[in-house]
Amino acid sequence: MFERGLTSAPLPTVILKRLEHPIVQAPMAGGPSTPELAAAVSGAGGLGFVAAGYLSPERLREDIAAVRAATDAPFGVNLFVPGAADVDEEALSAFVARLGPDAGEPRYDDDAWEEKLEIVRAEAPAVVSFTFGCPSREIVASLSSEVWMTVTSVAEARTARDAGADALVLQGVEAGGHRGTFDDPPGGGEGLSTLALLRLVDSSDVDLPLVASGGITDAAALAAVLAAGAAAAQLGSAFMLAPEAATNPAHRRALAEEAPTGLTRAFSGRLARGIENRFMREHDAHAIRAYPHVNYATSPMRAEARKREDPDGFNLWAGQTHNLAEEKPAAQIVRELSEGAYAALKAAAARRA
Ligand SMILES: Cc1cc2nc3c(=O)[nH]c(=O)nc-3n(C[C@H](O)[C@H](O)[C@H](O)COP(=O)(O)O)c2cc1C
Repeated sequence: MFERGLTSAPLPTVILKRLEHPIVQAPMAGGPSTPELAAAVSGAGGLGFVAAGYLSPERLREDIAAVRAATDAPFGVNLFVPGAADVDEEALSAFVARLGPDAGEPRYDDDAWEEKLEIVRAEAPAVVSFTFGCPSREIVASLSSEVWMTVTSVAEARTARDAGADALVLQGVEAGGHRGTFDDPPGGGEGLSTLALLRLVDSSDVDLPLVASGGITDAAALAAVLAAGAAAAQLGSAFMLAPEAATNPAHRRALAEEAPTGLTRAFSGRLARGIENRFMREHDAHAIRAYPHVNYATSPMRAEARKREDPDGFNLWAGQTHNLAEEKPAAQIVRELSEGAYAALKAAAARRA
């Protein structure tokens, strides 16, 4: 039960309890995530993640094997839950026409959902996490891993609990990359901040361990969410400058600057946060809800821009506090953020004494 001044934080899951440091490396599909990054974070006592999104099933198997070859420590695998295939075809054609002659063919696929589920059933990583939706009870029951689900509201938290989640990743609107909403609501939805979401879910009837995510890039912010009831925090931007991450050089340079971020559907057809750039400014006002159709349409243009290291031509996913990220080996990031967070908690308590 929630008591005034205390959080109701339930007991951590087996894996959360095993972590030496309360730090989860966010899965980062489409570039930054590598097996090296996941292994470095897990090896240092945090929890590394393989981002299965966009990978072929073969590549997913290889990445899991590469993490296992590098460390015996537990790690997770993250899957995208496929959404509906139907979109407004007329609006989609108009948007693709605006992109110009370099656009690719828009299309739907389910990101090899069944094959990837089979792989995580067989490989049984310590944790399987989901984003973009809530898998069925049957699917959750078929996994022998701990199941974590990404949610952005109290309603989604209840749905995830009812489906059998072992823990919840609470993603606030500050977070870099795609919003993990179940249905990408028109307009973006309520857009709760990480702290607001954490307090609302922790104070609700959802009695699951919570992992806070979004805008947590330094030790003080980690301390804040631990004080507010999180068992751990899932950090994306904080790891993007690590040498083990495969972040594009132009993306690295943009992350280090004090550049504003914004939410847009321009790159993929699903709401996501990135550093504002020319592509976003040109296409945001016309962008539509059509994922992954738009993602495929912009894909060749983004790939070309990445090759040219042109920061104005591709998605610079980043959380609101991206410029607090430091260029350090991932293991050092894990240790320093964890130690710094406990020091910050002590310092805060001492100020009251
Ligand atoms: C480049 C990038 C890629 C991401 N890809 C994924 C992903 O594949 N799966 C997922 O669940 N979340 C993904 N996210 C969201 C993260 O899990 C996390 O919620 C977010 O990074 C937290 O915000 P922060 O960047 O401020 O730490 C991504 C974030 C970034 C920055």
